[in-house]
Amino acid sequence: MGRIPARENVLESLRLLEYRGYDSAGIALIDIHGKIHVEKTTEKVESLCQKTGNMPGCMAGIGHTRWATHGEVSLRNAHPHTAGSVTLVHNGIVENYLALMQEMAKTGRVPASDTDTEVAAMLMDCLYDGDPVVALTRAMGRIEGGNAFAVLFADRPGEIYAVSRDAPLMVMHTQDGSFLASDAVALLRYGETMAVVPDNTVVRCTASEIRAYNLSGQPAQLRYGNACWTASDVELAGYSHFMLKEIHEQPQVLSRKMDFSSVPEDVLRDATDIRIVACGSAMHAGLAVKDYMEEQTGLCVSVEIASEYVSGALRHVGKPLFVFVSQSGETADTLLALKRAKSIGAKCICVVNVRGSSIARAGDYVVYTQAGPEISVASTKAFTAQVVALALLARRMSGRGLSLELEYDPAALAEKALKQENAIRRIAEDLSCAENIFYLGSGMDLALAREGALKLKEISYIHAEACATGELKHGCLSLVEPAMPSVMIATGREGLGRSLTSAEEIRSRRGRVYLIVPEDAKIPDGCCDGVIRIPTASGISAAVPVAVCVQLLAYYCALKLGKQIDQPRNLAKSVTVI
Ligand code: F6R
Repeated sequence: MGRIPARENVLESLRLLEYRGYDSAGIALIDIHGKIHVEKTTEKVESLCQKTGNMPGCMAGIGHTRWATHGEVSLRNAHPHTAGSVTLVHNGIVENYLALMQEMAKTGRVPASDTDTEVAAMLMDCLYDGDPVVALTRAMGRIEGGNAFAVLFADRPGEIYAVSRDAPLMVMHTQDGSFLASDAVALLRYGETMAVVPDNTVVRCTASEIRAYNLSGQPAQLRYGNACWTASDVELAGYSHFMLKEIHEQPQVLSRKMDFSSVPEDVLRDATDIRIVACGSAMHAGLAVKDYMEEQTGLCVSVEIASEYVSGALRHVGKPLFVFVSQSGETADTLLALKRAKSIGAKCICVVNVRGSSIARAGDYVVYTQAGPEISVASTKAFTAQVVALALLARRMSGRGLSLELEYDPAALAEKALKQENAIRRIAEDLSCAENIFYLGSGMDLALAREGALKLKEISYIHAEACATGELKHGCLSLVEPAMPSVMIATGREGLGRSLTSAEEIRSRRGRVYLIVPEDAKIPDGCCDGVIRIPTASGISAAVPVAVCVQLLAYYCALKLGKQIDQPRNLAKSVTVI
């Protein structure tokens, strides 16, 4: 809000946040008389732009893109929601919404939607006696769960209020006014200095200033800092898709220095084992580094799916040290698992990309992966940065004062792998005709096979499954049909012979095999249908070039099939619901 028209600003911010995935969108503008104008769509932000063409010029407004949780995708469930003098947008889940809804029903309020959000608007309206800060602080005292709200009050035309707990919220003030968002990407075009709003702090934004209050209504301090990202980081820069841009950014990303100084060198002093907890690609990064971390630390390392870690008794014989990995730092499953680990008094290291995110704030020690903003839903540069960060963390934790460098330079390896782009594109075109694809590997290569299969499924919608190379003959081989492709990753010299035997098993059933092997690997003529050569590197270092290759395979496969690469169906970039 401020000195520039709110409609255009809010719509442009929503456009910038489209990458996060959404199924409906809406905007509310407040004019100088306190009249609130709301418009919504169940289509893309572009359609909201068209629908709002005749809205009056207002200097304050809020907007939202919704990913349905409570209630179907519909106009009445899209945000903003209004109750009395309160109009708000919301991220998160009001966990006690049923109880609150019953309470609101007793006050005669009737919901107009199926959402948990509307009950928050009703509650704030109910608690509003002319002081928005009091209404918001009291409401936060009643609302359970991780939530962020941006709120307009009909009798406060020049003001926007916001509050959050365990959900991202950041603010920025410039000569053009005050801006708030749940994602720094929406703010970067106004400047680089912003403040992450601390939990349970209410902010009041006007054209001339931003004020903050704690839950007792007393003035609170906001700490402004540099976002570390710039507006140009979130532009396509000539690439056809953000995914391709982000794949190509890997040499640059991996050459950035990461700071491990927050992690004490003796962090393992009392630890009996290490548990890496994460979701999706971030979990695969953990799997890729598991063996290396065991080697470096001498401790047993387990890798856990965060969503499997959130209920039931937390097994903790001994004193586990936890490592949580997340690009967004907002993944609800990971955040919940982190809170459970903290509840048993465990020490938690967080390996995160987004500064100031909820996971970064909740851990004991944080390491930033420095990958820059990742816009494509399919994670690429964040994944390789996580692998490198975890490998370097393992060295730091070894307590042997090892230098924070891997045997091979990951940036150079990524650069060399990108040189294979044309060869990979040709193989991807073969893969694009398949209905099912196996990704095979052993040890670290199996983790990368999982990542390759996930990437392909996400953006090409081809069914892909990862299998341990040696496990194929124990069951999955029955699925191999003539022409069915398998991508076999074999980076280690020792395992190559066994991989080639498995390749033979597939090919003798007329399946097709594409190998990903080091450039100096000796493979017999005619043993496969295509080869991708990665630069020679040993151990964990080989993860980076393999990851680049499987990312490119997925990208070119989806491109050939004409899929929506950056925003695949049904997926959101930041999964803030459990
Ligand atoms: C896959 C992908 C997801 C994320 C997962 C965790 O390409 O992007 O599997 O890796 O949702 O997200 P973060 O890392 O943000 O916790």
